[in-house]
Amino acid sequence: MDKVFVSRQLPGAALQRLGRATNMHCWPGDAPPDRDSLLAAVADCRGLLCTLNERIDSQLLQAAPQLAVVSSCSVGVDHVDLAALNSRGVILGHTPHVLTDATADLAFALLLAAARRLPEGERHVRSGAWAAQPGWDPSLLLGTDLRGRTLGLLGLGPIGQAMARRAQGFGLRIVGWTPSGRAVDGVEAADFDGVLEQADFLSLHLALTPQTRHIIDARALARLRPHAILINSARGGLVDEAALAAALQAGRLGGAALDVFEQEPIASTHALLQLPGVVVAPHLGSATRGTREAMAELAVDNLLAGLRGEPLPAAYPLPTRKDA
Ligand code: GLV
Repeated sequence: MDKVFVSRQLPGAALQRLGRATNMHCWPGDAPPDRDSLLAAVADCRGLLCTLNERIDSQLLQAAPQLAVVSSCSVGVDHVDLAALNSRGVILGHTPHVLTDATADLAFALLLAAARRLPEGERHVRSGAWAAQPGWDPSLLLGTDLRGRTLGLLGLGPIGQAMARRAQGFGLRIVGWTPSGRAVDGVEAADFDGVLEQADFLSLHLALTPQTRHIIDARALARLRPHAILINSARGGLVDEAALAAALQAGRLGGAALDVFEQEPIASTHALLQLPGVVVAPHLGSATRGTREAMAELAVDNLLAGLRGEPLPAAYPLPTRKDA
């Protein structure tokens, strides 16, 4: 049986199925393997099922000479060096589509939470500040209406489109830009700056690549309207967090609702966490039981198909090999 390493316990029964079909070693415990343990664990494996915690690069490939398939239990693959995999002929699977609705739900929840200042309201109640007030205050924690406002979308793949569908239900106008120039029903196409300039809410749904790293930098932030709220449920590296904190501190932006960060977990002392208009979550985009179980099932399906030499149900397309 093929030897495979799984870097993390996953919800549901998918790993039991993998364990019956392979010689599987699953990293025990609640933390991801440290780098040395990971490199040692993959030494004689043909398959690796990883999460976005593990850096899959040429050093790992050198440590795993028999590796044929990497299956990441994530839709994003920015933790994978695609060129290194390609030059070794290792194939890659990921978990798109099964997490689309859960992730768009979370992105929209962030938008609502920031627009209606829910975390501030929660802190107000729990701190006793509300109990100390004489009664209902008509001016307490006033937020922003959604109907008639404009949602700007950067990235119009499945999750961006699912976000657009949710926004339509709330009466938002939607403008969008995507690097591929793809047109999407119900979304007015604009160029990158045009989306920034029109958005009351700006939601990011781009993959993190060398081209999109810090796509929201000081220049882009300066194009946003001063009341605009930035929502990021995609990848922290899309945003220059220092520039974002500076814009918020200077009152040049209405707020930010962030599920992802440049460095995860974000330090509790980080400048962004000291700002009242910032809503945060600990990378929960796909975190529903049903979605995480579906991701685990798809990750196992990808790995088993790859080990059998069959097409992966969800292969991540690698750049064409120079020698192909
Ligand atoms: C989570 O961030 C994922 O890429 O699935």
